[in-house]
Amino acid sequence: MANTWDELIQEIKSRLDIVEVVSEQVVLKKRGNTYWGLCPFHKDKHPSFAVTPSMGIYKCFSCGEAGDAIKFIMKTKNMDFKDVIIELADKFGLEVPKSHKTDGSTKELKDNMLMATTVAAEFYHDLLLREKSDNAKMALDYLTKRGIGTDIIKKFHIGVAPKSYSTLYDELRKDFSNEVLEKAGLILKSEKGGFIDRFRGRIIIPIQNENGEFVAFGARALEEGQAPKYLNSSDSLIYNKSRLLYGLYTAKEAIRKEDAVILMEGYFDVISSQAHGIENCVASCGTSLTAEHVRLLSRYTKSRRIYLSFDTDSAGQKATARGASVIKEVFEGLGDIKQFDESYVATNNDKYSCEIRVIAPPEGKDPDEFVRSVGAEAYKMYIENAPLFIDFRIDSILKQKDNYKTPQERAQYISSIIPVLCEIKNTIIRAEYIESVSQVLGIDSSVIKSEVESYERANSPKPERIVKNVTKSNSILQKAQKNLLSVFLVPDNHFSFAQINEMMSDVAFDDKILIIVKSTIDKSICTVNNVKELIEHLYTEFVDNAEAQALLPELIEHAQSYRGLSDEEFENAIHEMIAKINKCKHIEEAKNNKELYKGIDDNDPEALKLQIQLRDKLKKIRQKSEMN
Ligand code: CTP
Ligand code: MN
Repeated sequence: MANTWDELIQEIKSRLDIVEVVSEQVVLKKRGNTYWGLCPFHKDKHPSFAVTPSMGIYKCFSCGEAGDAIKFIMKTKNMDFKDVIIELADKFGLEVPKSHKTDGSTKELKDNMLMATTVAAEFYHDLLLREKSDNAKMALDYLTKRGIGTDIIKKFHIGVAPKSYSTLYDELRKDFSNEVLEKAGLILKSEKGGFIDRFRGRIIIPIQNENGEFVAFGARALEEGQAPKYLNSSDSLIYNKSRLLYGLYTAKEAIRKEDAVILMEGYFDVISSQAHGIENCVASCGTSLTAEHVRLLSRYTKSRRIYLSFDTDSAGQKATARGASVIKEVFEGLGDIKQFDESYVATNNDKYSCEIRVIAPPEGKDPDEFVRSVGAEAYKMYIENAPLFIDFRIDSILKQKDNYKTPQERAQYISSIIPVLCEIKNTIIRAEYIESVSQVLGIDSSVIKSEVESYERANSPKPERIVKNVTKSNSILQKAQKNLLSVFLVPDNHFSFAQINEMMSDVAFDDKILIIVKSTIDKSICTVNNVKELIEHLYTEFVDNAEAQALLPELIEHAQSYRGLSDEEFENAIHEMIAKINKCKHIEEAKNNKELYKGIDDNDPEALKLQIQLRDKLKKIRQKSEMN
């Protein structure tokens, strides 16, 4: 059990698994000892984000962002170090020393907000079930008309908010502060300066996070003409719309079991479908699908089979296209996007690809209406036969072929299918598609093929600039000094830190960041036992120094090149590096002196004296560097 704050930090670090932590936000693929994914800190097209579990670190080779598991959580959740430690301590059931317990801070506020939201959900639910509010009867009738009976009301904790202004507030103010209720989005400041309930005269749909905690509400209008149709909780400390999917808590087992998830648009689509035995469905809450949603889902489906079941109107079609592109963006570069080869899908549990299918019944109804009017069995048939997104797109283009008659019209129309074909990366599958599209369009396949190829050439992405070195000026001297520093971080060598320090005692580091790193290493080496601990210690020490922290992965990476050397080779390598540094220093010094020498006024006797001195100095430097 941790006693001090430092021990707590160490304990948490020993329990954190960097791959697990990063995987919550980034889809990773293993290659050798490193995991790769798309960087969450910049718009990354190719996986340049590396996670090295043996070192417990991540680094993006494109934007340079780097750190350990704790920094990753800090950056992605926008939390400070202390709050992350407290949250993790809570998660691992570790005690936080009294001195560091937060005084009415975030954690406590969050807990209270969660509690208030739960109490509010129960309260609204109870009003509906026991018909205790003025509009409960009306709400029950409305729900009955939508095919929602008591069982479903109970399963989804559906409730009703009375029309009056402060029913909830009057109930909850006894136990919660105004701050908590307002931050949880349950009450609003009124014009008169008091508080009123945020949700009034509406059906209440409580929103649960993945763990089943109540964090927000969607509230549907109950009366004709009441606007807006849905009033949603805003984002808060406990609710982030772009990271939460409605229905996930009740759907997650089914998603795992079916190894597939159906994305829908509305709360009631999910409620009706789940109530009718189609359990693996979720919806975003009044926002469009985000990359974070997709990453969240990828934790539950191994094969990443995602069905899009949006409305069939044009807005729904746009949402389908957008949704598919978000999904592809998340998975791109991590293996084949399985869009075509169905036998592959059936036999392979490849963790790093995805399959996007579209459910679009011709009846033009949303899933809720469809399931209720046509039936769940019919909907299941549509799931079973759902086309791959690529087929869906190609088919919807091919369907319009008779609208274009003249060669000019047809040329323009046919060119709209080229970018779609171009997305097929597997050459055999692409050839098959080109063949069948050409047949339908009545045009020679070689024409389509050459169009696809020239489109591809014109649109192939330019390689991203790789930023290898973090510190800006990167002279040979600085690089040599960095390399030398990295020998402290070589795993499994036989020299103690003190011995290594001794070997490089003559070197004066002269770059600001390198000096900081070196002096921190000097301070740390008495307290740490091995390289892993040293690295962890350095990350903690540099928690407020982004530049120094960013340098660590570079040093760690370079250290790998000294692995497996014999003691003698290791020592020689250090001496060689020191010699190189000295040589660089002499050259630089000589260069500086030369410039000084050039700038001297020949008519000034004092300057002339200086000139002679400098010439001697330059000569000495040259001799010395030749000796090295
Ligand atoms: N939505 C919203 N705010 C609105 C309208 C819609 O947040 N003013 C969100 C809700 O999550 C809603 C989803 O978008 O469930 C889909 O909207 P829409 O298709 O308009 O509603 P339905 O789900 O069909 O709603 P209902 O069946 O209750 O009419
Ligand atoms: Mn609907």
